[in-house]
Amino acid sequence: MSDTFTIHPTRSVTGELSVPGDKSISHRAAILSGLSDGDCRVENFLSSEDCVNTLKAMANLGVSYTVTRGTQDAPIDMVISGKGGALQAPGAPLDCGNSGTGMRLLAGVLAAQAFDSELIGDDSLSSRPMGRIMTPLEAMGAKIDARGETPGCAPLHVTGGQLKAIEYTLPMASAQVKSAVLLAGLFAPGKTTVHQPATTRDHTERLFTAYGIECVTQGNTITLEGLQTVKATDLVVPGDISSAAFWIVAAACSPGSILKIHNVGLNPTRTAIIDVMERMGARIERELLANEGEPRGNLIIHGGPLVGTEVLPEEVPNLIDEVPILAIAGALASGRTLIRNAKELRVKETDRIDTVVKNLRAMGIEVEEFEDGLEIPGGQHFTGATVSSYGDHRIAMAFAIAGLLAQEGVTTVENVACVNTSYPTFHEHLTQFQSI
Ligand code: S3P
Repeated sequence: MSDTFTIHPTRSVTGELSVPGDKSISHRAAILSGLSDGDCRVENFLSSEDCVNTLKAMANLGVSYTVTRGTQDAPIDMVISGKGGALQAPGAPLDCGNSGTGMRLLAGVLAAQAFDSELIGDDSLSSRPMGRIMTPLEAMGAKIDARGETPGCAPLHVTGGQLKAIEYTLPMASAQVKSAVLLAGLFAPGKTTVHQPATTRDHTERLFTAYGIECVTQGNTITLEGLQTVKATDLVVPGDISSAAFWIVAAACSPGSILKIHNVGLNPTRTAIIDVMERMGARIERELLANEGEPRGNLIIHGGPLVGTEVLPEEVPNLIDEVPILAIAGALASGRTLIRNAKELRVKETDRIDTVVKNLRAMGIEVEEFEDGLEIPGGQHFTGATVSSYGDHRIAMAFAIAGLLAQEGVTTVENVACVNTSYPTFHEHLTQFQSI
């Protein structure tokens, strides 16, 4: 397969599609099922590089899984047989590939094991900050040595051992750091408490409940009593709203389009992209399919004129992965769109403020860059151009949509293999909307 997308402008984003399973939930399902006391049937697992790396890491720790749909290397439905917490020392370094979630969450588990392990990743992951998990895990008694060329970065050598519970205030709104501490807290006697500066995605807490682990959330404080049994359970992973976001924006920005997206996760800590698009004037109907555990439903998006908006500080953690695609909507809307308080974007798979700004400008869009965000004057149009993903899946997909929405010209997005980390069927869906 070629490593580029070639995109012609489309006249309409009408039709229907189902996005693959949620990335955040799939990572956690692999980890918690592996820690559970029995067989867990997991359906609609995101069979992407990131989540399969986490599943394989659990397999290297002694967990087995039997695939009932998909393949051993690309499972969609499977039974994961938990080890009841009795993980085995891995024979080799655990490769997290491109995934910060995989590495940070696994570090929380590994810190508490009776063996040493090594977490490695690709060049992007090996330059992302790991000090943010090392600080709380070390306060719990873990020993983690960051051996990367960049200080505080992977490879991480984890010397496992008995942990103690802590009370920890997150210095940044990060669900990954919160989850690393809570997973470590599962192995520490006593109460582990995490205070977060803003609400972040709460999949770990919801899944804890599904796996029979009591965990109390009061405002932005989460408390967990350690040494609880992780009880085997069955799960159906909803579609990933962060993948759906590309199509929400594509349809909303194409007047006259009507697009139905089936079975999307509607956890309220992830739906700010819908709220913000509605505030911009998009018409989005929701058909709720299930409201327990992880809510999910169908979305029907009607394209029409949009107006720019200001993203509120408390919305930022809730749509942090959607900023690249939101920037595309901002350029097309009338009036300005302002996204600030989003410095975290600088330490994602790429520095997403930088890569979004570069690609917007390459496609003829005026934008102002800030250390913590960007401002886009509205009423502009995209002109087809050659842009790079810079190795970042969300940049590749956001600018493929920009190409689809361009007023004229063909867009080439280079270096798109990274899309397989989160949305392996993206290209297939993109082809559906090519009018040529
Ligand atoms: C994730 C949390 C977010 C998000 C990432 C997935 C998770 O990162 O950007 O794609 O699954 O917990 P932070 O929590 O570090 O902001």
